[in-house]
Amino acid sequence: MPLRYLVHTFGCQMNAHDSDRMAEALKAHGWSAARHRDEADLIVINTCSVREKAEQKLRSEIGRLASLKARNPGLVLAVSGCVAQQEGEKLLAFAPHLDLVIGPDNIAELPALVFDQRLGAPARVRTAFDMDAPRFLAAIPSPGKAPVSAFVTTMKGCDERCSFCIVPHTRGPERYRSSREIVDEIARLVDSGTREVTLLGQTVNSFRDSALEGPSRPPAADCDESQFPELLRLIARHIPGLKRLRYASPHPRHTSQALARAHAEISILAHHVHLPVQSGSDRILKRMIRRYSRAEYITRARLLLSAHSDMTLSTDIIVGFPGETNADFEATLDLVREIGFVSLFGFKYSRRPFTPASRLHDDVPEETKSERLARLFELAEAQTQAHLATLVGTTQTVLVEGASKASATRDSGEVLVEGRTGRNEIVHIAQPNDRTIVPGAVAEVEIVRANKHSLVGVLERFQVDASSRRLEPEQQRRFLPILGAS
Ligand code: 5AD
Repeated sequence: MPLRYLVHTFGCQMNAHDSDRMAEALKAHGWSAARHRDEADLIVINTCSVREKAEQKLRSEIGRLASLKARNPGLVLAVSGCVAQQEGEKLLAFAPHLDLVIGPDNIAELPALVFDQRLGAPARVRTAFDMDAPRFLAAIPSPGKAPVSAFVTTMKGCDERCSFCIVPHTRGPERYRSSREIVDEIARLVDSGTREVTLLGQTVNSFRDSALEGPSRPPAADCDESQFPELLRLIARHIPGLKRLRYASPHPRHTSQALARAHAEISILAHHVHLPVQSGSDRILKRMIRRYSRAEYITRARLLLSAHSDMTLSTDIIVGFPGETNADFEATLDLVREIGFVSLFGFKYSRRPFTPASRLHDDVPEETKSERLARLFELAEAQTQAHLATLVGTTQTVLVEGASKASATRDSGEVLVEGRTGRNEIVHIAQPNDRTIVPGAVAEVEIVRANKHSLVGVLERFQVDASSRRLEPEQQRRFLPILGAS
């Protein structure tokens, strides 16, 4: 019987990416995935500490594992991710049933550490940042099995000092991956079936690599030291099979004219950017140490918007930061309208240890935070709806990812598949009876309806290249007819 692992992921895309790499490292050592925690020999809780709620959830999750460990003393329990990095030894004191505490830079050591635990080693904490020789674990895709849309890490850590944010503490200073390694990983993924890549980094567009040639054009007045636009050009040039390229999340400070030009010139670059603003009030932006003003954000957002007539932006916003007045919040709503974000993530400010803002009085009452968040979401919903409505009647290019999550068929027995436009809108497509749209296909779709957060379309035509694959059996199973569902 092979040993079985279970990785439970909290938090951001970076964490999901780390979880995938841990699973691959374990599989390479003969482990296989457990279907249920009762059959697991190893449980890893990959944690998030960006907001207090996430951290509380994790603490109760760890507590629940104590009884499992009591029943199965051979079970190895590990905590990884940002809470592991942040708390280190303290986690072992909080939960003596834990065996391993592993920071984000130590996940490659997981199989060896688990091996030692199974031989009876004492509990270990490994949370050293890999400053001298930063390591980036690459995906190990099986031929034909890589996800249609994959994440590729290009940098880690963060040199910003936003006063609300714990990430510089949990992920350390910025370290960049070499552009050669990035291109190699993308090439391997594309060979294995990936068609879209999202480059991942805490401030993804601060990228630098001395091996890259400098800006391909004379630097514009606003050009900064970042070589991110050059990285985008390199990827587009070297990997012809890549259909779409995205990145998350950029910092407005490195959102330069050169980046906007890259958007205008690189055909595979998505017509959408998620550009976190956090607040629309200069006073609050200053207290957040975001290092840009409202006017500077608007200038940079407009640079991106001017790259294509159908370019869209989304954002992150924190409400109820210490000292935020009604007028500050109104300025945020006003900015959301002015930029016309098509969607956004909104968060109530949550005081985090080790952050500069933890010394400020968290003075906005909880109900005020809730009210502001509700108003923000109401505005965002209206803007999403208005945007999606403008797409009805148009033809969109959709990269098909797989079975529709709506998991429904029409009364006619048509099957729905799902994909995304270049602006990231989800489109459900009715599959014609006589043809199969496989994941990885690029479909031209006439949009016939806007749902609350997605679009419904009818296939006009599609292209499939030789390396696209058929639906996996488990995806096909989800096509059970559900009469009456839309
Ligand atoms: N409180 C609330 N939201 C936060 N974020 C980061 N730190 C905090 C905090 N202390 C939000 C920001 C960031 C997103 C990933 O999480 O909006 O962009």
